[in-house]
Amino acid sequence: MRYEALFTLKGRFYGGESGPARANGCECAGEIFPVIVIHGGTSGLDLTKEEFKIREEPMKKALLAGQAVLEKGGSAMDAVTAAIMVLEDDPNFNAGKGAVFTADGFNELDASIMDGSTKKAGAFAMARHIKNPILGARLVMDKTWHTLVAGEGADKLAKENGLEMVDQKYFFTQFRYDALQKAKEKQKLLLDSEKAKKTSLNLHERPYLGTVGAIALDQNGNLAAATSTGGMTNKMTGRIGDSPIIGSGTYADNDSVAVSCTGTGDIYMRVNAAHEVSALYKYKTQDVQKAAEDAIAQVKALGGSGGIISIDKNGHTGFAWTKDKLGMYHGEARLGAKPIVYWPLGEK
Ligand code: GLY
Repeated sequence: MRYEALFTLKGRFYGGESGPARANGCECAGEIFPVIVIHGGTSGLDLTKEEFKIREEPMKKALLAGQAVLEKGGSAMDAVTAAIMVLEDDPNFNAGKGAVFTADGFNELDASIMDGSTKKAGAFAMARHIKNPILGARLVMDKTWHTLVAGEGADKLAKENGLEMVDQKYFFTQFRYDALQKAKEKQKLLLDSEKAKKTSLNLHERPYLGTVGAIALDQNGNLAAATSTGGMTNKMTGRIGDSPIIGSGTYADNDSVAVSCTGTGDIYMRVNAAHEVSALYKYKTQDVQKAAEDAIAQVKALGGSGGIISIDKNGHTGFAWTKDKLGMYHGEARLGAKPIVYWPLGEK
């Protein structure tokens, strides 16, 4: 099912071409096939092989980190945390180091995590000084009676609990800074209708949204989901997207699915997209691929773009994204199998 879904999309794929055929979940009663799935955000379809390679390696590293946890019999929660930390530390993704800039030139980080076995969750928003926001989200879940902590309070909580703190300059990357300048220029042009007519103002042009997400099923049948992001370039300072909102950007329930989203968060929040995948699976008995596709269709219908990864309680996986001008970096690693990373290409 998954291969059909991938290959009926126009164009070719990097990563999948040489990958081995894989079982997509298991129909055998009582047997669990642990798996970790990640995404590295969406981007325009005109990536070169070199640009793909830059992100393929850290994504494989993230999959291996999660897979190592699962192979030792570790929990889905630990597997998704390990995978997200690798991507947060890599400047090529819009999470942790390499996060995008707000309109006022800050990096404000959002992250969340959810345990499908207990349905406990934790989230961090607008944090400016925590090196790994996913650890902040987990801290909220493990050590407080809250679910979402934002802003100064989030950084204070992280510091008080001994998490690694950094200056804003740690998050700086030149290409994200340049992207802010370009976004500001486009915004100015949009206000000038005469100039706008003469200029390409396609805001989806190579947007490198680059949010990261990880979902996993462990050997005990527990699901977990986690998402981390810097948000969207040129966002208002103080703006919070879907990634730290449980049910919008992240959701996990052992009775249904684990989900992580990437894309225009302001729309995902209105669709409650991550929970929507769970609801379609659970109440409309859609398979996990169809549920992800239907949730994405709702995002697109409201003018949003982006992608969704999901795993159901039997280890079946679902991948969907708005297929107009975008692709989604995604990958998976089952126990004993090599991690595989995919990137859909446009027709050239
Ligand atoms: N999906 C990331 C954001 O909109 O903040």
